[in-house]
Amino acid sequence: MSSKLELLRANAEYIKLVKLINKYDDLYYNHDTSAISDAEYDKLRQRLLYLEELYPILRTPNSPSVKVGASISNKFSPVEHKIPMLSLENAFNFKDLEEFIARACKYANITTECLDYCCEQKIDGLSVSLIYEKGSLVRASTRGNGYIGEDVTKNVKQVINIPHEIPIVENVEIRGEIYMPITAFNKLNEERQRKGKQTFVNPRNAAAGSLRQLDERITAKRNLCFFAYYMLGIKLTSQINVLEKLKELKFSVCDFEHCNTIDEFQNYFLKIKKIRNKLDYAIDGVVLKINNLELQNQLGFAGRNPRHSIAYKFPAEQVETKLLNIEVNVGRSGKITPVAILKPVQLCGSTVSRATLHNFKEIKNKSISIGDVILVEKSGDVIPKIIGISRKKSKQTSIIVPTNCPSCASNLVKMDGYIDIFCPNKYGCPAQALAYIIYFASKQCFDINGLGKKQVEELYNFGLVHSPIDLFNLKKSYIDFGLELKQGWGSLSVQNLLASIEKSRSISFRKFINALGIHEIGCNLSEKIADDFKSIDVLMSTTEERLQCINGLGQSKINNIIQFVSNKINIDFVNKLLHHVNIIYNK
Ligand code: IVH
Repeated sequence: MSSKLELLRANAEYIKLVKLINKYDDLYYNHDTSAISDAEYDKLRQRLLYLEELYPILRTPNSPSVKVGASISNKFSPVEHKIPMLSLENAFNFKDLEEFIARACKYANITTECLDYCCEQKIDGLSVSLIYEKGSLVRASTRGNGYIGEDVTKNVKQVINIPHEIPIVENVEIRGEIYMPITAFNKLNEERQRKGKQTFVNPRNAAAGSLRQLDERITAKRNLCFFAYYMLGIKLTSQINVLEKLKELKFSVCDFEHCNTIDEFQNYFLKIKKIRNKLDYAIDGVVLKINNLELQNQLGFAGRNPRHSIAYKFPAEQVETKLLNIEVNVGRSGKITPVAILKPVQLCGSTVSRATLHNFKEIKNKSISIGDVILVEKSGDVIPKIIGISRKKSKQTSIIVPTNCPSCASNLVKMDGYIDIFCPNKYGCPAQALAYIIYFASKQCFDINGLGKKQVEELYNFGLVHSPIDLFNLKKSYIDFGLELKQGWGSLSVQNLLASIEKSRSISFRKFINALGIHEIGCNLSEKIADDFKSIDVLMSTTEERLQCINGLGQSKINNIIQFVSNKINIDFVNKLLHHVNIIYNK
């Protein structure tokens, strides 16, 4: 009985994990972004593999454990990989490595003494395949789903250190990683921020977004680079030989070392971990490859991973720094969140001076005080998190939970069912209005290019825009007068901004719903609602019963929608908005 119950529990957890991993895979591979850190993602995957091993009955043919990479976009022509571009198994500790070696030895019926290794840095970029015929680069493709990739030949030809011709007669395939140097990444993000464009979360996303451009001239401007690590089509005996041959052909190869034992590999890992912050490219671990290529062939693949190579991943990076202050942020829904202001420190290749704290309860639970030395963790990509306190200044927290909104001074309230505190002044709080306009202009809503946080703040502070409706009433002369003269906006950026606002007037129904900012209704639910409702008029006159028919809408979300559509201010807002915009249905 209990084992049946355990299986049921495992099944429920497994279904949740599959959903989550698929969601994060879609964001990573198809939208060039990450919502969680690599370390957190790896933990989900490890748990999935563990459950599948414990209960093989749970595994489905579509399990993320057998899929590799992305679904194929129709942005580029498909290219079939003659040999699949699969993925590496991850090791997180020494025991995982020992088990990997033992499995390989058992499979090939050899002892560990027979093995030597090629150890390489694991570059955090995106893998590509390059086909050279008679020495000329004829095709380049992304990994895609491992079997079919995207034709990015034109784009790859813009990568500075990829040779278009190589002195070799055989037809060869070269694989490696395209990445964006950290200096280029920081420069690109600074520029995007200045222009009000969305910034990239990490160099890998920036590299993927820059390579997968329809206009290869954009790729050319992004300073992408390439490290080669793999070559098919000529006979060589070891992975070390492959890398040497690649070097001879003028490819840049990632750092590598020959090791005879697993202890030597450990030393290499520690050495690379120490210097990783000094590199101008992101790495997320080191790769251990059995050096002998004949043996590699013999070992072959188990599912989506080779039996001859494994990635030893770095743990999430942590660093100590002093907590200087706590700022209070007011979100677009009025949610009050504490933000830790830190003494700036270097972490994962960037300077960190702010970290998230989810709510004031967390401050109390961790007894955080200003002046404490705290431990901050970052995993290459996502926003830094406070893990704990290293040295305390005082036993009790000195941080007082605010009682009034820092923007409009309203008394803050606690809402039923939420830990957070909120500013209830939904229609009169400047901080909420500002946060809402920033959200309204963002990519997943009206996607107004050139209108980021900085620009919205300037328009707001100058009194030109107090609500999203004002955006559609902006005239060149107003902005010229207000901003170009007083804030130093160039006339070109004013023109570009007005052109982007014009373009945003046509909007899909799902983005329109998302842009309404209904509490707890994000991109995914907006899409579901758009699929279910014929028009905005039908949605604005919906009933609770009608909403209950939508899968995935719980009671609290239904209440939020009903509250929204029955509020006169919202009805007026939607009606006014409809004077300015044109919803494209079925898009
Ligand atoms: S060998 C079967 N070597 O890591 C795949 N991969 O998680 C063999 N990567 O898909 C790949 N640096 O995109 C290899 N030195 C390196 C690498 C490397 C980065 C990437 C590659 C691969 C992923 C596996």
